[in-house]
Amino acid sequence: MKILITGGAGFIGSYLGIYLVQKKHDVVFLDNLSFGYLENLSSQNFSEQKLHFIKMDIRDAQVNRVLKDTDVVIHLAGISSLPECQRNPADAYAVNVSGTLNILEAARYNNVKRVIFSSTSAIYENEKVFPLRETTLCQPTLMYSLSKKHAEEVCRSYQKLYGMDIVILRFFNTYGPHMDFRRPNPPLISYIIQCLLNKETPILHSDGQQARDIIYVDDVIALCEMALTNKKVKNQIFNVGSGKTYTIQEIYNAVAKTFGLTDIKPIYRTSKLLWDKYPQLFEGEYSFQAKFLEKEVNKYTLASIAKAQKFLGWKPKVSLEEGLRKTIEFAMKNK
Ligand SMILES: NC(=O)c1ccc[n+]([C@@H]2O[C@H](COP(=O)([O-])OP(=O)(O)OC[C@H]3O[C@@H](n4cnc5c(N)ncnc54)[C@H](O)[C@@H]3O)[C@@H](O)[C@H]2O)c1
Repeated sequence: MKILITGGAGFIGSYLGIYLVQKKHDVVFLDNLSFGYLENLSSQNFSEQKLHFIKMDIRDAQVNRVLKDTDVVIHLAGISSLPECQRNPADAYAVNVSGTLNILEAARYNNVKRVIFSSTSAIYENEKVFPLRETTLCQPTLMYSLSKKHAEEVCRSYQKLYGMDIVILRFFNTYGPHMDFRRPNPPLISYIIQCLLNKETPILHSDGQQARDIIYVDDVIALCEMALTNKKVKNQIFNVGSGKTYTIQEIYNAVAKTFGLTDIKPIYRTSKLLWDKYPQLFEGEYSFQAKFLEKEVNKYTLASIAKAQKFLGWKPKVSLEEGLRKTIEFAMKNK
């Protein structure tokens, strides 16, 4: 099957794409390298063959040509950093919403059989009923979450107006090899791992008792693979979480234990400093309201994964200990 992965040099895209190449699919990796890295496609995990990579922006008109003869598009490209989207809301919308539109339009012209769109658990940010279900009416406020919600609406429009087959996957916090650690606010687990690799004290926020649903990348990939062709999932939305929550302190302890570095204790500071690397957000008359940072830091997430279990027979398999061990092994090997 010919599969095009947008965001193919990013964390999930590269990991998923390499897996699909190993499964003998014909995979094209498309990325503009704004947040992704070519080294993700040449990691020590993979040396079988040269991968088909195209450096291109998803907003480029040439996307139409690139999608020729593609069976499935897995659309993962996007600006996925929350403070980055908040700092550059116009870019966030241009990439996450208009970019998605460009991909869907090209998919329509090229008779792509299915598009799989990567949405996010962040769109549930204002919800208070748990576990979070796909049927919830989401009304997010932050720019990242809002842009993904609007991209979902664009997908819905293409499903209805053109009869296209678009599966929406709402990823919860995903961790594993290839996770980025270089951006100013890296994902929590990659940040902790980098600190401990360098024997530095991690700076975390709030009191560590806030809890998230986190999922190992192999489980995410298993679901993506199942969603490639399964007829029952046409135009469905699925939560992709583990259905389990862990507090930040528990996650920290598990990483530190895997490293054998339990003597390093993290520093917890006020949530208000979470985005201190983005001072522009706090300048001027209308400065970003600190109460939203507290809300974001202390946000609780727990996915209902019953729908994916029912439609696909999918179930996460990797324990936190095993997932962390594999992630840390990769980080140490590629230090
Ligand atoms: N990793 C998670 O925990 C998580 C959770 C929820 C949702 N998601 C979503 O899943 C997708 C993949 O996540 P990820 O963690 O691999 O993110 P990532 O940032 O590692 O990868 C995204 C990739 O998209 C590329 N990209 C950005 N703008 C582009 C553009 N205009 N044209 C072409 N490529 C562009 C980047 O260079 C990057 O390689 C993202 O859309 C993200 O929002 C991820």
